[in-house]
Amino acid sequence: MSYKAEYDRSMNDPEGFWKEKSEALKWFKAPEKILSQDEHGIFHWFADGEMNTAYMALDYHVENGRGDQVAIIYDSPVTDTKKTYTYTELRDEVAKAAGMLAGLGVEKGDRVIIYMPMIPEAVISMLATARLGAIHSVVFGGFAAPELAQRIEDAQPKVMISASCGIEIKRVIEYKPLLDKAIDLSAHKPQSCIIFQRPQATSPLIAGRDYEWDALMATATPADCVPVKGADPLYILYTSGTTGKPKGVVRENGGHAVALNYSMQAIYNMNPGDVFWAASDVGWVVGHSYIVYAPLLRGCTTIVYEGKPVMTPDAGAFWRITEEYGVKGLFSAPTAFRAIKKDDPNADLINNYDISSLLTIFSAGERLDPPTQEWMMEKTGKPVIDHWWQTETGWGITANLQGVEPMPVKLGSSTMPTPGFNVQILDENGQVLGRNEQGFIALKLPLPPSCLATIWGDVEKFKSSYLQTFDGYYASGDGGYIDEDGYVFVMGRVDDVMNVAGHRLSTGEMEEVVGGHPSVAECAVIARDDDLKGQLPMGLVVLKTGTDIDEETLSKELTQMIRSAIGAIACYKETHIVKRLPKTRSGKTLRKSLRQMVNGQPYVVPSTIDDVTIMPEIEALLREKGVIA
Ligand code: COA
Ligand code: AMP
Repeated sequence: MSYKAEYDRSMNDPEGFWKEKSEALKWFKAPEKILSQDEHGIFHWFADGEMNTAYMALDYHVENGRGDQVAIIYDSPVTDTKKTYTYTELRDEVAKAAGMLAGLGVEKGDRVIIYMPMIPEAVISMLATARLGAIHSVVFGGFAAPELAQRIEDAQPKVMISASCGIEIKRVIEYKPLLDKAIDLSAHKPQSCIIFQRPQATSPLIAGRDYEWDALMATATPADCVPVKGADPLYILYTSGTTGKPKGVVRENGGHAVALNYSMQAIYNMNPGDVFWAASDVGWVVGHSYIVYAPLLRGCTTIVYEGKPVMTPDAGAFWRITEEYGVKGLFSAPTAFRAIKKDDPNADLINNYDISSLLTIFSAGERLDPPTQEWMMEKTGKPVIDHWWQTETGWGITANLQGVEPMPVKLGSSTMPTPGFNVQILDENGQVLGRNEQGFIALKLPLPPSCLATIWGDVEKFKSSYLQTFDGYYASGDGGYIDEDGYVFVMGRVDDVMNVAGHRLSTGEMEEVVGGHPSVAECAVIARDDDLKGQLPMGLVVLKTGTDIDEETLSKELTQMIRSAIGAIACYKETHIVKRLPKTRSGKTLRKSLRQMVNGQPYVVPSTIDDVTIMPEIEALLREKGVIA
């Protein structure tokens, strides 16, 4: 089958295409409604099918002869631990964990927040929640207490699952104090918390609310899979938008299972029994989709890696894991590849390992910059494939389909639209642009299975955030172009979202924190390009009249405030005091022009600017300080 034939079928007969793909999975009752619309006009896939995602991912394989195959490999250089779970062992642990949750009153539709490091219990918790037809919301362990609090308040979990600590390169991070603080900050309180105690730092428990994972698991009665409808939510995953409040992307069971299972074959060329490794974190969408659900739905072996690409212990970590477990498909972010390149520029460490099992390296999270892509291909001798994704879609919007027809790699392009995605480049009026013309990337509705169906509890926000900018389209928030051969080039966000080491962060949220400092009158947080992490935040701050604080002190205080409010992952370290910020006459700060300026690009100042002297003033200041060349 050629890419074109596959893609054209998905466009010409979407229902026939996805019905056929749905038949690869074991439903309790096959869907009859393939694509339908609800009273809000929102599309849903497989709405009336009956299923359970955890059943499809585990029990089905055990019942079909895959029980003794390894499902999860846990490899943790930071604790010097390695452990495997077969499909039977994982199903049994998940059934027990589901029983543990049911024992605390969790039922279909209830929310469970999971705030954990990269340990198998995080995956078990997700699948156990799914087994009960409940809805999980995993919060990345690097988020600080106020971020967790916002998610608790919005998702209103009945139960929370956490661990006593996570382990970073230089320190043990106690999670329990963060959990306690977040619950204090939130108006909603969970009924119970389950804590997985780790020997690196055990946590005291609050009587009547907190329970130890091991103690509950020891007496839990295994629970059966609860059937859900295809359009019932499987999970909520919060992601940064342009405002301070994260958006709860809702993923539905049916479309998610079908699209992910299809993607494992079509995009990643993975067959049942193959070993797939997404070197990410279960707190992010890549971790949800390609550490947990997709590999298990497809009957593959997945790796839960608690470590970094470098420093745990060195830049050979990816190659060590590849050899040790026979990894066939490796998926990570450009920042990880750049970190490896920085520490091991000649890739000498590859020579210590046999990486012949590896067929393809996949990259997403940010645009794979051509020098890094070339370096990776040259040093590994493998195809290095970029594909473009969002939390909202849950899988690649554009990709190079290794299991259908591998296309020649064009550096800097994430190749062509994945079957099901009608990708268009629009101008600001919603008119379709021609080849090689840069504009807003939009997806013509309906979106294919797995894409978000709403924002948790707020369908109007879903519409206003994504569907109202361009009539009949989903606005991706990214800009780019399609070249003469149909290759898509995604060039970056067109809104105030930034991408730090593959982590999506809101500049607006950082501005709220910086603006909360007692000496700050107003501020702009903008993204500065960075060789390792892609982008880093930089604060431009106007002081309140009469305040007396030096830049170094202010910078340290703001760094600490961002770490406490958002987390160390924001990597906020740079503050510059300026006299004024450039604004339009209606009072909108010219963030885009500032971003262009600090990144050494020619900047465009709109004609509606209030005072034309401000941009040159800031430019001169930053040049004098050596911030820009
Ligand atoms: N829990 C708590 N803190 C965390 C954390 C977690 N799960 N993950 C990161 N942090 C902290 C780090 O300890 C660090 O804190 P510090 O400022 O006190 O040192 C800070 O957040 C920044 O972390 P990170 O961006 O990971 O930087 P690093 O210098 O430790 O490592 C890389 C650099 C490139 C190795 C790392 O960014 C990386 O592995 N990136 C890949 C990202 C990825 O997989 N993204 C997923 C999208 S597909
Ligand atoms: P997240 O929702 O955290 O996965 O972040 C999604 C955003 O990351 C997208 O909107 C893009 O801005 C960026 N992104 C992810 N993958 C790519 C890619 N392959 N090329 C360009 N940008 C990407």
